[in-house]
Amino acid sequence: MKKILSVENLKAYYDVKVFGIERTVKAVDNISFEVYEDEILGLAGESGCGKSTLIKVLYGILKPPLYVKSGKVLYHLNQPVDILAMDIEDKKEKLYWKVVSYIPQGSMNVLNPLLRIKKQFTNILKVHHKEKAKGDLEEMVVEHIKNLGLPREVLNSYPHQLSGGMRQRVTIALATVLTPRIIFADEPTTALDVVVQRGVLQLLKDLQKMYRNTIIMVTHDIAVHAELTDRLAVMYAGKMVELSSTREIFKNPLHPYTKFLINSVPQIGEKTIKNSAPGSPPSLANPPTGCRFHPRCPLAMRVCSEKEPPFKEILPEHFVACFRVGGDEKDD
Ligand SMILES: Nc1ncnc2c1ncn2[C@@H]1O[C@H](COP(=O)(O)OP(=O)(O)O)[C@@H](O)[C@H]1O
Ligand code: SF4
Ligand SMILES: [Mg+2]
Repeated sequence: MKKILSVENLKAYYDVKVFGIERTVKAVDNISFEVYEDEILGLAGESGCGKSTLIKVLYGILKPPLYVKSGKVLYHLNQPVDILAMDIEDKKEKLYWKVVSYIPQGSMNVLNPLLRIKKQFTNILKVHHKEKAKGDLEEMVVEHIKNLGLPREVLNSYPHQLSGGMRQRVTIALATVLTPRIIFADEPTTALDVVVQRGVLQLLKDLQKMYRNTIIMVTHDIAVHAELTDRLAVMYAGKMVELSSTREIFKNPLHPYTKFLINSVPQIGEKTIKNSAPGSPPSLANPPTGCRFHPRCPLAMRVCSEKEPPFKEILPEHFVACFRVGGDEKDD
């Protein structure tokens, strides 16, 4: 598998003032991983664990109070491109829409409420196809909409005239109109009801098959990951705690937190929702020492509150950060 993106020791923090006291929220705290061409990688974890922050940094949106403390994000195009070293104009010209697209939480963050959908497409296309006439651009849009199975009428609508599900499909169509190599999607189906959600997930799946690109899909909903993703990265309190193929993670989850996440999915026929991990996630302004999961972990040992478990490849392509896995540390 060829890598398209690599993240090395990334730390991204927010400096905030709470009741007049300066605090640093360590939302992404020393994360390293690689993303491959032609895969759907899922990012899972409870709300507040740093998923959206990680995606924003990978896409290069760094608005204060968010900043990168250290680490690297490299796009492996013809040569490695360091997105964190590029200025905004450079990113707009060279990367956005044609190499990488971002579908943020809530489609109204992307769509302009005052413009018909067709205009929003042609506005993007004309920046990157300056040589083409208006009619040709419109033809490209119609062709693209047809390829994705959307009704042509949406092009003449304003965003508010569409249903939530259709708006999200249009946002996905917009993100893919220049066939980018990478798409980041942050909770793209969370606001939708289950039936509509299914259709939108299927659209993402179909277009990945069609374009063989990379999708990085964020959702706290582990059932969505099971249905959609090829590999799964699990985050907890600003750290990545497990990464492997989705099939392997569901068959052989190794981190105690991952086990809780998977156990929390109701099985067919079950009437009760299972327990998630006891307690709640820690504040990222003052995270626990050692393994950040130790206050909630039923398997915690003394070492867990003293040292941080390294993120290690325990089995081929299966990475875990836990002292109980891999057998280096003994209970005491
Ligand atoms: N603009 C901001 N200013 C300060 N803290 C923030 C901001 N955005 C997010 N955070 C904090 O960063 C942490 C990670 O948040 P986020 O990346 O949104 O998590 P997730 O997407 O997993 O729910 C949380 O503690 C959140 O409160
Ligand atoms: S390192 Fe310790 S506290 Fe952390 S998940 Fe593993 S056993 Fe639990
Ligand atoms: Mg989020």
